[in-house]
Amino acid sequence: MYYADDIVEQVRSSVDIVDVIGSYVRLKRKGNSYFGLCPFHNEKTGSFSVSGQKQMYYCFGCGAGGNVFTFLMEYENASFPEALKMLADRAGIRLPEENHSAQERRRADERNTLLEIEKEAAKYYYAYLRSPKGAQAMQYLTNRGLSAETMRNFGLGASGKSGGLYAYLKQKSYTDQQLEAAGLVVYDEKRGPHDRFWNRVMFPIMNQSGKVIGFGGRVMGDAKPKYLNSPESPIFDKSRNLYGLHIARSSRAGYFLLCEGYMDVISMHQAGFSNAVASLGTSLTQGHASLLKRYTSEVLLLYDSDTAGVKAALRAIPILQEAGLAAKVVDLTPYKDPDELVKAIGPEGLQQRIDTAEDSFLFEIRTMQKKYDMQTPAQATAYYKEVANKLLGFPTALERKTYTQAAAQMLQISYRELAGFVTGTGIAQGGEPKVRRAPSAEDAKKTEDKGKRKAQRLMLTWLSEDPKRFRVIRKYLRYEDFSEGLYRDVAEALFAQLEKGAVSPAAITSRYQEEADLRELARIFNTQLQAAPSEEKKAEVISELIYKIRAFALDDMKAHLDPADMAQMQKFIQGKQELEKIRNLHISPDEWES
Ligand code: GTP
Ligand code: MN
Repeated sequence: MYYADDIVEQVRSSVDIVDVIGSYVRLKRKGNSYFGLCPFHNEKTGSFSVSGQKQMYYCFGCGAGGNVFTFLMEYENASFPEALKMLADRAGIRLPEENHSAQERRRADERNTLLEIEKEAAKYYYAYLRSPKGAQAMQYLTNRGLSAETMRNFGLGASGKSGGLYAYLKQKSYTDQQLEAAGLVVYDEKRGPHDRFWNRVMFPIMNQSGKVIGFGGRVMGDAKPKYLNSPESPIFDKSRNLYGLHIARSSRAGYFLLCEGYMDVISMHQAGFSNAVASLGTSLTQGHASLLKRYTSEVLLLYDSDTAGVKAALRAIPILQEAGLAAKVVDLTPYKDPDELVKAIGPEGLQQRIDTAEDSFLFEIRTMQKKYDMQTPAQATAYYKEVANKLLGFPTALERKTYTQAAAQMLQISYRELAGFVTGTGIAQGGEPKVRRAPSAEDAKKTEDKGKRKAQRLMLTWLSEDPKRFRVIRKYLRYEDFSEGLYRDVAEALFAQLEKGAVSPAAITSRYQEEADLRELARIFNTQLQAAPSEEKKAEVISELIYKIRAFALDDMKAHLDPADMAQMQKFIQGKQELEKIRNLHISPDEWES
């Protein structure tokens, strides 16, 4: 399955991304790029851009992006080798080892079979619920307030007391292995192959295109486990699918409602909130967040109001933020979950809660406060410091200021007092040990990471779009100043290209095959540069950026410093001195030209 980099690059450079995407999406030229309606999210104005120069695409609306390979992977739902094959065919290039793609084809066939089986099973359960034998399950769902229309929309079904699905699917001539792989049949020595689900109401789980990929089954009483879910399979990846997304994706609300349970989603949709989704009996993952990011930029959390729900929300917030999503938290108290709430206070009540949802930062610091005894001065101080620490995580001065204001108001202390903690020597200079409370320190770190990466992305985009600046920038910046991993690798490659005077972000992206990397690469090379009004201003912005990246790099170094390692200590001190020198770096616009 693995193709050598040179073959990948050969294929990529033989096709033009503008042609390829142009055959799927209507593109119009605008300046250096082409624009069109984004095929990956619903939109009326074209924020989807394709650059011939970079051989990449990027959607300023939903953040979808990548190179010609990822485009086909996303658009055609193809694997990397399949996309490579399509493009090789287009360019008339013969790929080595044809048997690899034969294997790929077998895998695709296997996936299709699994999808067929799930669909058959869904039909079976659906009919069962509506048959006389399904009366108890029908009663259960009706008692829970679901209308016939809602049950139909979500394809709800039921499994029988003694199974029955196995026989049904066998008669459709699927093999035992296939049924096991689909997660519907379990094998054990005593009983042989038999149904996984029996005597449960069945919730088919659909992927974003509405195809059934698995099931959740709920007992009708208090037995355990309450929900039984299909195991993961080649078509069912729990961390990359969200319950209800196939409907929510076309909602026009402008934000998504994220719940914990299937029943929550269903009951919200029934109440008119078709933008509700839930993760699939797992906690929220980065995969979920980037999936959400394709469709929205804001997520409102409606997690259960108990301790576990609050904990889950605190875990979800940084994940959403990391993906570039704004997050808010909806207060459900005194109700346990959204299902209960909407039944008690109706859609208007819920809408009101949505309208007054709390900013996730304020939610975090408010929750944090519960760990402190605010009557004790020492603890109150420790708390304010922790808040200040978090505030420092915001990448821009404006955000720091706005949030300091909002936090001060919520905590009922003066802005100046709280701002004092934020700029206070102890914390700002990092002289005092951080309050030892793992989760929140981690959260602050995440936001800081975000600022760091943003700065690095800006620089990389800038350099790739305006290579002539490199001559000056290289005096102050090395690729080692970029964060270890993808960012540094990209910087190293780009710097090497810049040295040679042949910049090609696309050639860099050809080295990567993982979708996640390619997505991040698209962000790296497409960070929106502020239109600087003058050369002077531009020089100023770049100077600041250089300082920022260097300062972050030094922070990183400091975090891993071993005081016993003299060579390392010397390097650190030297770095500190150098950083001091460029604190007020002011590249003059003439420098670019000389
Ligand atoms: P109802 O009692 O039917 O209203 O459930 P709920 O939708 O309120 O779900 P709950 O808050 O209890 O749990 C949230 C989600 O966690 C469910 O939708 C399931 O996906 C998952 N879940 C709950 N209980 C279990 C369990 O016993 N096993 C597994 N694997 N998942 C569960
Ligand atoms: Mn519930």
